[in-house]
Amino acid sequence: METHLLHFNDDDLQLAGQLIQQGQLVAFPTETVYGLGANALDRDAVQGIFAAKGRPSDNPLIVHVANASQISQVAHCDNADVQRVVEAFMPGSLTVVLPKRDVVPDVVTAGLNTVAVRMPGSKQALSFLSACQVPVAAPSANTSTRPSPTNWQTVRDDMDGKIAAILCGDDCAVGIESTVLDMTQPTPTVLRPGVVTPSQISKVLGKPVKVVTNPTAKVNSPGVKYKHYAPNCEMVLNVDGDVQKICAFYDAQAAQGKRVVILAQQAQGFGNRSVKLLGSTDEAVAQGLFASLRQCETNFDLIIASYTSTTELAHSILNRLTKSAGQKIL
Ligand code: TXA
Ligand code: MG
Repeated sequence: METHLLHFNDDDLQLAGQLIQQGQLVAFPTETVYGLGANALDRDAVQGIFAAKGRPSDNPLIVHVANASQISQVAHCDNADVQRVVEAFMPGSLTVVLPKRDVVPDVVTAGLNTVAVRMPGSKQALSFLSACQVPVAAPSANTSTRPSPTNWQTVRDDMDGKIAAILCGDDCAVGIESTVLDMTQPTPTVLRPGVVTPSQISKVLGKPVKVVTNPTAKVNSPGVKYKHYAPNCEMVLNVDGDVQKICAFYDAQAAQGKRVVILAQQAQGFGNRSVKLLGSTDEAVAQGLFASLRQCETNFDLIIASYTSTTELAHSILNRLTKSAGQKIL
């Protein structure tokens, strides 16, 4: 199949919306990462997402909406806490898991009785979703296990020939996926950390919010079920910033003939070893992270990522880095 490149003008937006209504797949920008969209109410169309990505069918999708009335179309949201969260964070980089309505096919939710709903913050995403006139199921637009795409060129690398169109918009400003918040239990729980932080949510709700992951733990848990965000080369993660240890590991690996790169926030202490800078603020690190991984994998055999920040946003970034490194901690 030929994958058409569409742009943000009225004709192309209308065409993108028509393709979705016809049951085709269209990739589109959001402020977090690019999504791979299908009509969320069309079982066969959604099935196509799993095929294009090679995604396991037991991993549910997020339903993207353009406005509040579409939230109540797909989910039960008549709850005061949910209303507060919707008002405070939507549109934005937060996804809320709610009890689902029957109109949402099982293929979207992997048979769960809940549905994840997100109204993206980016104007481009909202204009695409408005043009679709239906809720749009969309995972990140990468091949399963690969780093998420934060620009349209990366979407094309993974999806060319597999989907009807790519709506080519801006590079993603946030760079990591939305915070996923389960609101189906009395205590709201962050299932996936993102730029919307537990303390921001807690402040809006006036009560504690649980967080499920411990990003720096060396996990052998069977719960870590799927490979995620992985570059096509070896990767280890360092979280203590021990420059001597990193250099020793680098040198030992390089001596074996490996092309090694250090991915870090600063180059100090690494001498003439290959270093790629991650960005000086946590926001910049998040924005460039996935693109950096994809750039490094083309030139190197081993990435040593070193990241020592401890802010709430850093916790979300470490969640991704730990998975990218397959839990391998240096
Ligand atoms: O920023 C984002 O969220 C991006 C953009 C495209 O919106 N989307 C995204 O989708 O990251 P995906 O499929 O790559 O990740 C969706 C996450 C997965 O961890 C999935 O397990 C979880 O949301 N999820 C979806 N539905 C769920 C549900 N009903 N209950 C619990 N978790 C759910
Ligand atoms: Mg994903």
